[in-house]
Amino acid sequence: MIISCKNCASKFNVNETFIRESGSRVRCSLCKRVFTIQRPSTTKDKVIQKEIAQIKKEPSPVLKHPCRIISISNQKGGVSKTTTCLNLGASLAMLNWRVLMIDFDVQASLTGALGYQNTRSFYDVIHSDYDFSSCILNTKYARLDLLPSDENMILLDRRYFFDRAGANFFEYMLKDRLADLVGGRLKNKYDYILIDTPPSVGYFVLNSLTAAHFIIIPCQSEYLSARGVGQTVKLINRVKRNTNPQVQARILVTMYDPDCTASKLVVSKLKGSYRGMTFKTVINHDVKIRESQIMKEPVYYYDKHSQAALQYFALAKEIGGKF
Ligand SMILES: Nc1ncnc2c1ncn2[C@@H]1O[C@H](COP(=O)(O)OP(=O)(O)OP(=O)(O)O)[C@@H](O)[C@H]1O
Ligand SMILES: [Mg+2]
Repeated sequence: MIISCKNCASKFNVNETFIRESGSRVRCSLCKRVFTIQRPSTTKDKVIQKEIAQIKKEPSPVLKHPCRIISISNQKGGVSKTTTCLNLGASLAMLNWRVLMIDFDVQASLTGALGYQNTRSFYDVIHSDYDFSSCILNTKYARLDLLPSDENMILLDRRYFFDRAGANFFEYMLKDRLADLVGGRLKNKYDYILIDTPPSVGYFVLNSLTAAHFIIIPCQSEYLSARGVGQTVKLINRVKRNTNPQVQARILVTMYDPDCTASKLVVSKLKGSYRGMTFKTVINHDVKIRESQIMKEPVYYYDKHSQAALQYFALAKEIGGKF
């Protein structure tokens, strides 16, 4: 393939099989500038791009689908829970599903990732008697809404999880508030409700696991993260015994590096230990994710040709209508 230097525009012929899947750094032999080159899109990438182009041309149909609640949970921090919630939400919305994302984390990363602050949150639904719908924001993306988080949310964790004041069945507080959207008066408003959760066991995680029909466990493709999956699976089994017997879970491998042996080993161990519980789609490590978060956009809207955008779109296709 022909590449051109980003500094002096000199052209070189490069054998693409030597380019790593995550991109390779090269030095221009004329001006000595170092820059990164990427492999040309694979056939699979091209197929997904074509599908995206077709979807955007279709008018948005009103889809009949019972509202499904998906919790995105892992006790381990920094494994891509928030990133998955935002980008899966945006991709499902592109596929014409109507999506509500709930930021159920005091860190309010999801809220911040979309550029919001100082908004109403679930705390106001519980303590200020605001109607649930009046706290929901319509984002600038079609069919993608957000119930934001704010710092008051910490008070819910303190009051109901640590003090257990005034709520014997505190794990059901979210499920109760979502009942209208799932099977009640507002049951035709959303197809999917995605819940972003914090990296801890407390009020928020137990409420979201209790409310969920389905749980996505993002797992960074590294050893310590894979060990964290075991703890989350144990917690889910406890939730199944106590508050939510029907819930199902699947593991999503994130930040995968196809050129790293450790990454490959972790994935094959996960697949062996949790047979039939992993998604086909794997999300690679992609710098475009970090860049898109700085720009406060889902990665597709930041760079629609990026690997991460295509992979989150593939995940949305794997989930949409099936879970
Ligand atoms: N596929 C990816 N490629 C590159 N960087 C990523 C990817 N996914 C997530 N990241 C980065 O990893 C960091 C952690 O991601 P994120 O905040 O989504 O994790 P989290 O599980 O929600 O963390 P926390 O447990 O603190 O809530 C962020 O800086 C994010 O930009
Ligand atoms: Mg997070």
